[in-house]
Amino acid sequence: MREAIFNFLRKHQNEFVSGQQISEQLGVSRTAVWKHIRALKQKGYVIESYTKKGYCLREAPELLSPEGLEKGLSSSEFGRHIVYRERVDSTNNVAKQMADDGAPEGTVVIAEEQTGGRGRLSRSFHSPFAKGLWFSVILRPAIPPMEVSKMTLLAAVALARSLRAHGLSDCGIKWPNDILLHGRKLVGILTELNGSAEKVNYIIMGIGVNTGVTASDLPEELQDIVTSFAMEGVSVQRQELLQTILLELEKLYQTVCQEGFAPILVQWRALSCMLGQKVAVSSIGRTFTGTAADIDDDGNLIVETEGGLEKVMAGDVHVRPV
Ligand code: BTN
Repeated sequence: MREAIFNFLRKHQNEFVSGQQISEQLGVSRTAVWKHIRALKQKGYVIESYTKKGYCLREAPELLSPEGLEKGLSSSEFGRHIVYRERVDSTNNVAKQMADDGAPEGTVVIAEEQTGGRGRLSRSFHSPFAKGLWFSVILRPAIPPMEVSKMTLLAAVALARSLRAHGLSDCGIKWPNDILLHGRKLVGILTELNGSAEKVNYIIMGIGVNTGVTASDLPEELQDIVTSFAMEGVSVQRQELLQTILLELEKLYQTVCQEGFAPILVQWRALSCMLGQKVAVSSIGRTFTGTAADIDDDGNLIVETEGGLEKVMAGDVHVRPV
């Protein structure tokens, strides 16, 4: 019904239509019309409403279109099969289901909104309607499970390169799975594995990029630590950005398939915003501070502390203000 109401308003864009008219045309109560319009407004649709005049659609968010995406895509496999949904719990969940059902490598699941977006360490990931790129890529690499964590580093390199190409030239990678700009989180990556101790069946590479998110979309505790293209005052076309990201991901993935991860680690170091910085680490029951020195061949973070070099394989790392 919400779609029917939106289509009706769009047909009369910039004109006022009364609640009575909508209700008669679509056979729905005026209270239901009002509730759907309130929900549309919450999603970012600009709809004026006055008691006597009714409703008038002024602006609608630009939605992604799988056809448009595929048309402008220059990758050969990534994004050649796109599954588009308006609303899902998590694109990683949908992608997992599809991978179990045999979806080919490079399949992309993308949604306008996630109601249960997930991050690392079981955290939730805020994914409001049409305000970001919330998507997952299905991969079936012939690598041992031990190497899978380096796929997150690959994704981070592809994202940093893409975002820089779209105007955020100062963004950088924070180990292991974020892209930061001016110390705030712009992108999160969640790589999930299906396989056994010996074999990878598939990997779901989940990526969330904040494009139109503003402080009012975020809970208070995130307002000072998250950023977006909009919050940085940089305009971006979501579709073009996604095309760039998919191409970058595919190029780096092909590199890994041919040469292994060594060239990715070189690029990671060059794009990191954290090497040489003071960091605070909370890792498996202990916390310590030091300077982020390097990543090793396995993708672990090496931190120089007063007591010597520490290898960080998991956990939270905060870049400390100098
Ligand atoms: C993190 O911040 O720890 C990672 C966040 C990853 C978010 C993306 S959005 C698309 C995909 N679906 C999810 O539920 N999570 C990832």
